[in-house]
Amino acid sequence: MPIVHWDGSQAIGIEIIDRQHQRLYEVLNSLDRKLHAPTPDATSLNTTVDSMHQYVRYHFSTEERLLEHYGWPGLQEHKLLHQTFVDKAEELLRLGETDVLQALREALVFLVSWVVNHIEGEDQKYAPFLREKVEQSKAK
Ligand SMILES: [Fe+2]
Ligand SMILES: [Fe+2]
Repeated sequence: MPIVHWDGSQAIGIEIIDRQHQRLYEVLNSLDRKLHAPTPDATSLNTTVDSMHQYVRYHFSTEERLLEHYGWPGLQEHKLLHQTFVDKAEELLRLGETDVLQALREALVFLVSWVVNHIEGEDQKYAPFLREKVEQSKAK
């Protein structure tokens, strides 16, 4: 059973963002699968954690660039949420240097709940604004 499931209701209505959000769900599922494998493979886990780390940063910068471009008034607040998450995730992963598996299992709970709440809550706040701006710019 995947730990997170994309059913389309989380969509923002902006293709590039929705694609990236879906990809984030896939990465979380992949991390969960690898962590709960009968004999977890540390190298493969590290690769997944690294790629998740990079993908999260990449996604945040895409989203922030779009919000900045269209002048979303909540940009600074939204950026701060992203940054706080990155800091917290990095801290959790650093703590994992002694017992990597246990730390990752605990970190996963935080990562999943944060990402799901963020995508289904905070990101939805800018969705109507961004959809309207993108539509307007297409009409020009
Ligand atoms: Fe997002
Ligand atoms: Fe966001």
